[in-house]
Amino acid sequence: MKLSNLYMPLLATIMLASCGPTQQQKEQTCCDLQKTIDFASKQIGRQVQIIEESGKILNPRTVYNGKIEYIPKDDWTSGFFPGTMWYMYDLTHDKKWIDYGIKYTEDLDSIKYLKWHHDVGFMIYCSYGNAYRITQNPAYKDVIVEAARSLSTRFRPVPGVIQSWDEDRGWQGTRGWMCPVIIDNMMNLELMFEATRFSGDSTFRNIAISHANATLENHFRDDYSTYHVIDYDKVKGGVRHKQTAQGYADESAWARGQAWALYGFTVCYRETKDPRYLAQTDSIYHYLFTHKNMPEDLVPYWDFDAPDIPYEPRDASAAAVIASALYELSTYGRPEYKKTADKIIASLCSCRYLAILGTNGNFLLMHSVGSIPHDSEIDVPLNYADYYFLEALTRKINLEQS
Ligand code: GLY
Repeated sequence: MKLSNLYMPLLATIMLASCGPTQQQKEQTCCDLQKTIDFASKQIGRQVQIIEESGKILNPRTVYNGKIEYIPKDDWTSGFFPGTMWYMYDLTHDKKWIDYGIKYTEDLDSIKYLKWHHDVGFMIYCSYGNAYRITQNPAYKDVIVEAARSLSTRFRPVPGVIQSWDEDRGWQGTRGWMCPVIIDNMMNLELMFEATRFSGDSTFRNIAISHANATLENHFRDDYSTYHVIDYDKVKGGVRHKQTAQGYADESAWARGQAWALYGFTVCYRETKDPRYLAQTDSIYHYLFTHKNMPEDLVPYWDFDAPDIPYEPRDASAAAVIASALYELSTYGRPEYKKTADKIIASLCSCRYLAILGTNGNFLLMHSVGSIPHDSEIDVPLNYADYYFLEALTRKINLEQS
């Protein structure tokens, strides 16, 4: 063992100790953006270096048993690491990130044909969507349109929704599913809107709007919290079950689900200017930021109704998704949402959530949650927490410069 490794736990303890309440409070009112970007550059640089040295193209998702977990291309999170390269370029203007972005994005080419789950929107839009935005390479448009064609095969016209998972996904419990749709699916619609713009085929946009409208009607409770899973009847139409898969209970509010809802309806408003979608984001905002269990640092517990709050794990990924959505929403006549987003980002930039260089599997953020009911990825780094954190930083900087 190298001497420096021996000192790491001690160093971590000293750094954590220096993150006492006073300093933490101080950090929560501001975030040194340049320091955070410099740190991200080094930390993600280490992630890339390990992959480059392996001679393979690898796609990191999290840390499991002390080791970086690399995932196959058809994992729902495969678009986030390539997408991270593109946001690193946005934040640093260092052209090396373009080279990495192209390499890791183009590795996902075959995903445009993926039809066995709905996450092709996340996978292709976070990678190729950003790749096209930055390079304007027309070949990337074709990938996005082909992926939208694949996602369209999961559209079920009677309930008017894109089916998220197959009926036998394995998380259905004893009730059985016919057409499960999870709130996360709102995040796949951005790909569909873009595909219509690129192809001129309005089918994709129409599917996205149909899905958003069904979600508006069926996924929310009276207090504007969202269910995780709605199981539709794809023959007769209508809803069969309302339940959870990754939340604490069917009637609880899983934090990342609320984040996907906020972000998804923000995109739908951007694309359609339908005031119902904007009103929905306002209602979700109200639910989140008046909730008695929203912590002071605005990084939610993994479920708003988890039984042991304040001793439950936080979910930094949900916070990052919410912050990113709020920066966009602030440009739709809601300047106060930027203040909330800034507060979230200040928390995420503090040493409570931002890792120490060379630790945390070289991911940026600590303290996210994958799925507690499945005993999976509890209080870990996650590639999508980092992706949306960098997206939020990029949006914040763009807003402040404009
Ligand atoms: N889309 C799966 C998740 O948010 O965990």
